[in-house]
Amino acid sequence: MENEKYNTLVIVGSQWGDEGKGKITDYFAQVTNVVVRFSGGDNAGHQINFNGEKHKVRIIPSGIFNRNVINVIGNGCVVNLKQLVDEYELINQTVGDRGTLLISNRTQIVMPYHIQIDEAQEEAKGAKKIGTTKRGIGPTYQDKVSRIGIRLGDLALPNFKEKFQSIYEYQKDYLKKMYNKEIDSFEDIYNELMDCYKKIAFMVIDCGEFLESAIKEGKKILFEGAQGAMLDIDHGTYPYVTSSNCSASNVALGSGISFKYIDTVVGVVKAYSTRVGAGGFPTELLDEVGDGIRERGNEYGSNTKRPRRVGWIDLVALKYAIRSSAIDKLFITLLDVLSGLDEIKLCTKYLINGRETSTMPATSEEFEKCEPIYTITPGWKEDITSAKSFSDLPDAAKNYIKLIEKICETNVAGFSVGPDRKQTVLLENLFE
Ligand code: GDP
Ligand code: IMO
Ligand code: MG
Repeated sequence: MENEKYNTLVIVGSQWGDEGKGKITDYFAQVTNVVVRFSGGDNAGHQINFNGEKHKVRIIPSGIFNRNVINVIGNGCVVNLKQLVDEYELINQTVGDRGTLLISNRTQIVMPYHIQIDEAQEEAKGAKKIGTTKRGIGPTYQDKVSRIGIRLGDLALPNFKEKFQSIYEYQKDYLKKMYNKEIDSFEDIYNELMDCYKKIAFMVIDCGEFLESAIKEGKKILFEGAQGAMLDIDHGTYPYVTSSNCSASNVALGSGISFKYIDTVVGVVKAYSTRVGAGGFPTELLDEVGDGIRERGNEYGSNTKRPRRVGWIDLVALKYAIRSSAIDKLFITLLDVLSGLDEIKLCTKYLINGRETSTMPATSEEFEKCEPIYTITPGWKEDITSAKSFSDLPDAAKNYIKLIEKICETNVAGFSVGPDRKQTVLLENLFE
């Protein structure tokens, strides 16, 4: 069994989300049998472009645009059934050749009251708010660990309505007492839930069992991360993080397979940094260089339309992500966006209280004090959006990639030079 290869590939974000994971997952999905989401919910937003079409997914795995792919929402996810049904119906109407969709019976369900609690918690935090997507993600995970969550499999129980009634009463009380907010009527919430459930009940499976068989049959399995390593609840920039483990280490727990089945982990990394929501950001650019990158990279949330904060690449954070998320290879995206700059900066160390460090601080108070120490490399002026190989890149772009590899001691397995599926260059085969 030792060193056995299982044909599994993990794709995770290695920064603060929106690295282009959806695009890269869709690219590899063309040669994959199964794509699995293992964490997060519809706080994610992935844009996927091919054949002149533009599509978005939030909770459905990004492999859905490939006819032969089975897409699975794993137990580590939290699912808003209304959002899921809407997203699925839109894909049915707009995508001729879509893949199939299955959902774990152990996924937690995001309820309307979770969204109300998310909004109320943010409001109560005032200036210290996290800047959440207000999709009810935190409160749903809170209920999961408090053992008062509803799982998809519960909806098939003959006594589900009674079980839900007592949880509903608790939530109603909680919202009233804590936040003086009213909750929708039990019948409204229950009926909408069951209407949605009827539409997806045929997709419900035991995820771990399904994947175990698929792996043993030698199928190619791709695990698609949401968010990014720096938003991980344990290893990210706490408390300005999401409420789940979005790092690759959660693949096994979030999908019900053994961690021994994981072969290769690819960290998707933007050629610069972005962050949505609050929290420290040492390399943030608040000048016209940052504005230029935001415009060229169209750095506005794919769902929320919030302008993303923009900065230089942060290799202290990236090296930390490589360790905390077990990343084997990097995949650089949005490289084309850096075209036109005279010089490009890479943060290689932080200065904190007059002391140099290359260690990520554990507290947000310290992280916010970090000043970046940069290595500067020449930029390039050429348009690289048609590059098909490494040799098509200008020398300065080649050097930029090599510098990232050298400083991070990690190989770059590919890069992306535009939003389209075809604007992707693979430097090394990652699937057998
Ligand atoms: P995800 O959440 O990690 O899947 O990323 P998002 O889809 O939220 O954000 C990435 C954005 O960059 C999307 O609008 C993509 O279409 C776009 N994108 C992905 N790769 C590239 C690239 O190489 N170049 C450019 N210009 N855009 C890209
Ligand atoms: P994808 O998968 C970028 C951020 C929010 C906020 C924090 C907590 O598209 O990369 P939450 O709603 O999860 O409680 O918000 O996490 N966040 C993301 N930022 N991309 C994402 O997903 C994100 N999902 C959550 O902006 O700062
Ligand atoms: Mg996104």
